[in-house]
Amino acid sequence: MSTASDPTLLRDLLRATADHAADYLEGVDDRPVKAERSYAEILDAFDTPFPDDVQDPRAVLDALVADATPGITGMNHPRFFGFVIGGALPAALAADWMVSAWDQNAGLALPTPSVAAIEEIAGRWLLDVLGLPRDASFALVTGCQMAHATCLAAARHGVLRDAGWDVETDGLQGAPPVRVVAGAERHATIDRALRLLGLGTACIEAVAVDDAGAMRADALAEVLVGAQGPLIVCAQAGNVNTGAIDPLEDVADIAERAGAWLHVDGAFGLWAAASPRHRGSVAGIERADSWATDAHKWLNVPYDCGIAVVADRAAHRGAMGVTASYLEQSADTEPLRDPVDWTPEFSRRARGIPVYAALRSLGRTGVAELVDRLCACAWRFAASLDEDDGVEVLATGLNQTLLGFPEGVDVDALTAALAADGTCLMTATTWRGRRCLRVSVCNWKTTFADVDRSVAALRGVV
Ligand SMILES: Cc1ncc(COP(=O)(O)O)c(C=O)c1O
Repeated sequence: MSTASDPTLLRDLLRATADHAADYLEGVDDRPVKAERSYAEILDAFDTPFPDDVQDPRAVLDALVADATPGITGMNHPRFFGFVIGGALPAALAADWMVSAWDQNAGLALPTPSVAAIEEIAGRWLLDVLGLPRDASFALVTGCQMAHATCLAAARHGVLRDAGWDVETDGLQGAPPVRVVAGAERHATIDRALRLLGLGTACIEAVAVDDAGAMRADALAEVLVGAQGPLIVCAQAGNVNTGAIDPLEDVADIAERAGAWLHVDGAFGLWAAASPRHRGSVAGIERADSWATDAHKWLNVPYDCGIAVVADRAAHRGAMGVTASYLEQSADTEPLRDPVDWTPEFSRRARGIPVYAALRSLGRTGVAELVDRLCACAWRFAASLDEDDGVEVLATGLNQTLLGFPEGVDVDALTAALAADGTCLMTATTWRGRRCLRVSVCNWKTTFADVDRSVAALRGVV
């Protein structure tokens, strides 16, 4: 039974899919946020023998939805505050469906003009809304992890090129040593990017941070006294636990004096630049050499979509460019741009399309409103809770709030009790040796009413 040979069946299948999706999304806000079934239960439900025969696609779809839905966590629920997870704006979700329907390999421009052109515009709009240099190059990758890998590959290329070494040809064996300097509370994905790039984690010199986890400018200056040779400084806009932002203007001054390549992890914090109200908190960010961020967090584009931006286009292209005789590559004249030359992926999904749709549907004011509202929600958590509730607000920065509890409170048990209540979902962390609860507000639907319901639920389990 093949849908390919029967257009009516395909249409029915896609309509049924749309109904399933709409049923899920219409009901999501009223469902418990936590998945109702465990991994083991869902594994059991799916653990049937691999079928010998062709199956009816409609039956596959219906069974998939029926069996999977109880194990789906409401990560796109307005009261999901775990990790750092955005939802999916309607226009971005719809565009993402079209990406699957069109099923383009988005590596090259010539075979798929619309995809490449839309990605080009999405990139230009991103640079615009984030206040980054308009002549920077960009790449849409799977997430901030690969955005770091892309940016730091460009950094590795740039700093070694300046030292007279061609790392793309000669690799790292025998290369001048590359120093990497980063805040002590950098995100784990910086370390993994350095591992992937063959620089290893032992090359990282950790800079002391302040009470909120932001890199201390004086400590950075001290580490860089007399610096010479290939040097990369990794700053952070948005500490994953506290939301703290490194003092970027000072960091940019110090990095510039040391002749360093300045990379910024702005997985969520870079979006502060899109809001007139919050832009000041990331002042100086535009002076960096590369920036890594996500569209699947604050911009609320469906998974997966990270963004790498590099000021030195030649270093970016030098690190990522690729040719093969069978490809239809463009002549490399702007604006014809082959995404494959800027990303670590060869074949790739048309990630620019949902990004374009998200930006177009929100507009400049909509992006700013989204940033402002989610920050205000995080601050409302902080303002609503205090010691009388048995809660200590340890930090609030941008859209993150970090909560501590008196000694003796089992934070993991409390986190589980909150999840079991079903009103909202928050996740625990260890910050400076102490178990804490993180509140990360990233969903486009979240309002003050969601915060107030979640605060009440939290009070109920403390
Ligand atoms: C500051 C920071 N950097 C990097 C990452 C990694 O992002 P991704 O999961 O998109 O790779 C995160 C994820 O939460 C983050 O908060």
